[in-house]
Amino acid sequence: MHDPRPDHPSLLTVDDFERAARARLTKMAYDYFRSGADEGRTLRENRRAFRRLEIHYRVLVDVAERDLRATLLGTSVPFPILVAPTAYHGLAHEGAEIASSRAASELGTIFTLSTLSTTSLEAVAAASPGPKWFQLYVHKDRGLTRALVERAESAGYRALMLTVDTPILGRRIADVRNGFALPEGLVMANLADAAACSPAADRGSLLAAYVASRHDASLTWRDVEWLGGLTRLPILLKGIVRPDDALRAIGCGAAGVVVSNHGARQLDGAPATIEVLPAVADAVAGRGLVLMDGGIRWGTDVLKALALGASAVLVGRPVLWGLAALGGEGVARVLATLREELSTAMALAGCPTLASIDRDLIRRTRGSMPAP
Ligand code: GLV
Repeated sequence: MHDPRPDHPSLLTVDDFERAARARLTKMAYDYFRSGADEGRTLRENRRAFRRLEIHYRVLVDVAERDLRATLLGTSVPFPILVAPTAYHGLAHEGAEIASSRAASELGTIFTLSTLSTTSLEAVAAASPGPKWFQLYVHKDRGLTRALVERAESAGYRALMLTVDTPILGRRIADVRNGFALPEGLVMANLADAAACSPAADRGSLLAAYVASRHDASLTWRDVEWLGGLTRLPILLKGIVRPDDALRAIGCGAAGVVVSNHGARQLDGAPATIEVLPAVADAVAGRGLVLMDGGIRWGTDVLKALALGASAVLVGRPVLWGLAALGGEGVARVLATLREELSTAMALAGCPTLASIDRDLIRRTRGSMPAP
């Protein structure tokens, strides 16, 4: 396996990468990536909820070989940690989505490109050979939405991830204070009218203004069926926290769901994703894929999510911290670090395969735990 490289001995954990990223990013960029909505309650809970779970490991299991491989919508990955869609990689590093997608390819995992990327979906597809999914925001302009779907399909993206938790943008206080906008030279490269998020306007978050004016806040379940009629690609609905919504997603033809609260950037007060994952997985009961994101910073977090019903997890901010700290090399190191931590956690928990990571391993802590 790809050992953590010795040349940056201080960058051993995802949190180390966040500190290094913070030192390199402008305040506006760091605040944009870091922020949750409003007072950040859900942002803190996404991580704290993992700390409330203990791993009741099994002993004397042969774990000399660990098999981390998973197959997701027909794509095999060597370990069950995927790159979540996040906007504006160009704000983190000049290598932008080319660097981050190449790092995912190098590690063999799936890269999910955001609609709001600073590199066009075609350029990302041409630059990185690995498997890729495309995250979709439905715009009021259905012609534009349809064109995005067709472009993703013809560029070779293997699935669409429809974000369903963003009819409007959650309020990220720091972005409003900073007047968040893309700096000169960066654009929303998939969107013809990308100037809408340029530094020209003067107040509040330009992204919030863009979403309010262009995204379709009237999106409903009927539109999921409309989208299904436009494409032969499997569709995952991202932003689900309720079992009934997960069931409805499968009923509308979705191939699966991503248990997600958008990195706690939308509705503050939404539950931590690891808390709601088991009920969603029980409702779906194998009829579709269940993935999750939110708060994952350690391999033990991944193990907990797999035990509680996810087939794989996605990581967003960790990838951005790697990218900001060391470019594509940093993304590869973050993914390799999480992979190695998961492998270690599996060995120590008595789990040689993903299938052996079962729910009985996980119990809630009896006392309260300190904040991370
Ligand atoms: C974009 O999707 C964001 O959450 O900022």
